[in-house]
Amino acid sequence: MRAGVFDSGAGGLTVVKSLLAHRFFDEIIYFGDTARVPYGPKDPATITRYALEALEFFKNFEIDLLITACNSVSAHALPELRANAPFPVYGVIEPGIQALQNRSLSPEARILVLGTKATIQSGRYQKGIEALGFTQIEALAPSLLVPLVEEGIYDGPVMQSVLHHYFGDLQSPDAVILGCTHFPLIADAIGGYFSPRPLLIHSGEAVAEYLQNEGYRPRRCETTVLKIFASENPDALKATAKHWLNR
Ligand code: DGL
Repeated sequence: MRAGVFDSGAGGLTVVKSLLAHRFFDEIIYFGDTARVPYGPKDPATITRYALEALEFFKNFEIDLLITACNSVSAHALPELRANAPFPVYGVIEPGIQALQNRSLSPEARILVLGTKATIQSGRYQKGIEALGFTQIEALAPSLLVPLVEEGIYDGPVMQSVLHHYFGDLQSPDAVILGCTHFPLIADAIGGYFSPRPLLIHSGEAVAEYLQNEGYRPRRCETTVLKIFASENPDALKATAKHWLNR
C-alpha cells in the first residue's frame, strides 16, 4: 500500500515517524512545500490554493490515500482536497479530537490547544473538542515556536523563555493538543513546562490510531520505502529527514 503525506515543509516528518513505526505502508511519498513554508500565517484561500497544487503533484503517483500532516491545511482545505482527489484524504484534526476522546478525561478537564494562527483561527479543534462536552478549552498560537524548531532549538534557555512568554499566565492544563507538526519535536519542553505534566496529544500517533479505526491494518512490512520531494531544496529536506527519523 502506498500513502502520500503532504506538509508545508519538514514538520510533517513527525507524522511520518509514527506511520513508519506502525508499519502501515510499503511506500510513503512525502511532499514538503518548502518553497512556501510557513502556511500558518497565511490566509485560508492561499492555504487551499497551495494544497490543491500539491494534490496535482500526488496525482502523478498511484497512491492509495493521502494524509495531510499539516494542521493548517487540515483546518482549511480538506473539503476542497476531498472533492478533487481520486483517493481518500485524511487530515490530522479529526484524529487529534478522537484521540482526546479516547483518553476518557472528565468534562471539566482543562484542554489547551496549540497550533498555528491559521489552525487556531479556524476554530476546528475548539469546536470539535467542545462537541465532546469539554467546557474548559484554551487555544493559543505560539508562533515563535515554529522557527525555533526550524533552528534546531528544542529546549534550553531560549525555548524556556519563549514558553514562558506564551504559557506564563496559564493555569496548568490537563491535556495539550500539539496541533502543529513541529510541536511533537518539543513535546518534552512543552510537557515539562507544566506541573503536573499534562497528557499530550501527538498528531502522528493520533493519525495512526485513526487509520486503524478506519480499517487500515499495520502490515508488518519489512521496511517502508520513503521517497521525499520538496518544492525547494529537496536535499535539505532529505537531510532533516535523516536527522529526525534516524534513517
Ligand atoms: N505544518 C504547519 C502546521 O502543522 C506548521 C508550519 C507552517 O506554518 O507551515 O500547521
